[in-house]
Amino acid sequence: MTDLHARHKAVLPDWLALYYKDPLEITHGEGRHVWDADGRKYLDFFGGILTTMTAHALPEVTKAVTEQAGRILHSSTLYLNRPMVELAERIAQLSGIPDARVFFTTSGTEANDTALLLATTYRRSNQILAMRNSYHGRSFSAIGVTGNRGWSPTSLSPLQTLYVHGGVRTRGPYAHLGDAEFIAACVEDLKDLLGHTRPPAALIAEPIQGVGGFTSPPDGLYAAFRDVLHQQGALWIADEVQTGWGRTGDHFWGWQAHAASGPPDILTFAKGIGNGMSIGGVVARAEIMNCLDANSISTFGGTQITMAAGLANLTYLVEHDLQGNARRVGGLLIERLRAVAAQLPVVREVRGRGLMIGVELVRPGTDEADPDAAAAVLEAAREGGLLIGKGGGHNTSVLRVAPPLTLTVAEAEEGATILDRALRSVQ
Ligand SMILES: Cc1ncc(COP(=O)(O)O)c(C=O)c1O
Repeated sequence: MTDLHARHKAVLPDWLALYYKDPLEITHGEGRHVWDADGRKYLDFFGGILTTMTAHALPEVTKAVTEQAGRILHSSTLYLNRPMVELAERIAQLSGIPDARVFFTTSGTEANDTALLLATTYRRSNQILAMRNSYHGRSFSAIGVTGNRGWSPTSLSPLQTLYVHGGVRTRGPYAHLGDAEFIAACVEDLKDLLGHTRPPAALIAEPIQGVGGFTSPPDGLYAAFRDVLHQQGALWIADEVQTGWGRTGDHFWGWQAHAASGPPDILTFAKGIGNGMSIGGVVARAEIMNCLDANSISTFGGTQITMAAGLANLTYLVEHDLQGNARRVGGLLIERLRAVAAQLPVVREVRGRGLMIGVELVRPGTDEADPDAAAAVLEAAREGGLLIGKGGGHNTSVLRVAPPLTLTVAEAEEGATILDRALRSVQ
């Protein structure tokens, strides 16, 4: 064990898990690459959990942060804050939500916590619908809507949560159905559930489940759910913490795969927008956002230094059409990985969209998750010079591939070759 690893273990919580038998210390990055403390270079296909969204050390973001740091870092929400207003204007416009208001937080957890506060207050109900296999953050309330046993350290909750079926297309009782029948079955199940319970405040759902292993329902499910929920006045909260900003390639927001007809009532975001600076937030129609009748602030939410990073990062993303790049390069990458997987019984499925690709591993010949194989592939990929992530429901047996959105075709090819070798090595 390295000295730093020993010190980490001695002073940080046991539940703060580290990747790799011999954990990695990343000391710097550039573009789609990072370097460890021994000077070894890696292709980064996880971006610090989908957070380095554009690129490591993107000069535009570095410049904006440096210049802002030389002026003022923070003044609090008690004073007008130009970068915060500017970023809120841009996000409100991009969100598709009419008469949108934006509240900035410092994390995805806090964004979802705020969305839950808004929905429960607006609806005077603490009943929430969430998806099985979901992850929405680590606070007391966010854990209360997390349908993933591996990330639920407590069942105590301020909310009364009911878990709905449909977030996982290829497992569970409806997996054998075609897309339209799958949606119809989930909607029937939801209607049945609503017939037995008090009216809920909202449904919270990730358009593509991140921690759950990049699983998703067929396109259109959440619009069908929304139509049922709206009959009761219940809200739809789209958790776009992983799926936002064009990562899915086909759409700017994950919800757009479901509802060409209209946006969610509340949208939450975090991770990539700050490219590593801590920005989270909630977007909602004014009548929902303004339903609170007491003051509320987030001391660090929207602070000038993070907003400057967010503005520069978003400008770069839009001006360079990184959504289009995610679609093109992600499309090539997923095809390449599917071709590899077709020869390997350890791979049950390669799924995803844009630059959000999951590779689910099983014990060959069965449908049984194989977390040991996933851990071994993660190690082998690292040996080969590639960093990827892991996820999945009951067992973490899904490899998660989510590089920065500036990924080039050559880098996609290189990463796929390393992953191919890593998968074969555990075969
Ligand atoms: C979909 C989703 N929502 C919320 C969160 C929580 O965000 P944070 O870790 O910034 O609090 C995460 C984190 O992984 C996430 O994936």
